[in-house]
Amino acid sequence: MGLNVIMMGPPGAGKGTQADRFARERGLPKISTGDMLREGIKEQNPVALEAKQLMDRGELVDDATIIAIVRDRLARPDTRPGFVLDGFPRTVGQAAALDRLMEERAQGPLVVIDVVVPEQELVRRLGSRRICGRCGTNAEAGRSGCGKCGGELVVRADDDGQVVLERLKIYERATRPVLDYYRVRSTFRVVNGAQAAEHVARDMDRMIDDAAGGAARVAGERRISARAAE
Ligand code: AP5
Repeated sequence: MGLNVIMMGPPGAGKGTQADRFARERGLPKISTGDMLREGIKEQNPVALEAKQLMDRGELVDDATIIAIVRDRLARPDTRPGFVLDGFPRTVGQAAALDRLMEERAQGPLVVIDVVVPEQELVRRLGSRRICGRCGTNAEAGRSGCGKCGGELVVRADDDGQVVLERLKIYERATRPVLDYYRVRSTFRVVNGAQAAEHVARDMDRMIDDAAGGAARVAGERRISARAAE
């Protein structure tokens, strides 16, 4: 059974920060639709360049484009032991498409983590965020250049004040219903994302291990009962 994790939460909640760390520590691929689109823009990919106009306004890219990107990425063999999704799904349509993909894969359930942070703190974080203009990594506090590649630090194109408010509005309208879609599952967990990043990490890791362990136990019991019934 794979360890399949989704990081949910509004813009600035720390999904990318935690997804990066967790994926690195567990040896899983991090799949961020936002990062993939931004990389595509740098490479002048026509689909990503079309998406850029929506991203710069804080709007969502259409479901069909995003689902195709994720389907291709999840088809790669490195996702067999599991994956960490960051920024996907963002609509109920995307969540339903992911469920269909998960059924085809038959490699374990989704563990869904909702990272909760008050709106005022989200606005503060995004207002002060700097990223590397070369590799796109979030800057570490107090550094004048990128800690990873030495690139120059810049403001992310969609971190402009008005665009941030639009992104938050769209999150409420399009993405909050996805939480209701997942909330009924035994593998759904909510973490307090307003704590220091290392405390978020500690709580989140416990929750993921607990949810994945519970799902594995249930699957094992089902297998035993099925064998007993044969
Ligand atoms: P995407 O790149 O996914 O952006 P987002 O969801 O708006 O999320 P952010 O990257 O802004 O925030 P985050 O939660 O990852 O926080 P982070 O860790 O960076 O999407 C961008 C755009 O692409 C969308 O608007 C849309 O147009 C398009 N798109 C992408 N996916 C799509 C999809 N599925 N469907 C349709 N369109 C899609 O942290 C933020 C800051 O806070 C950083 O500076 C960080 O250092 C800091 N920080 C993190 N944790 C803490 C902490 N605990 N305490 C204090 N500071 C912290």
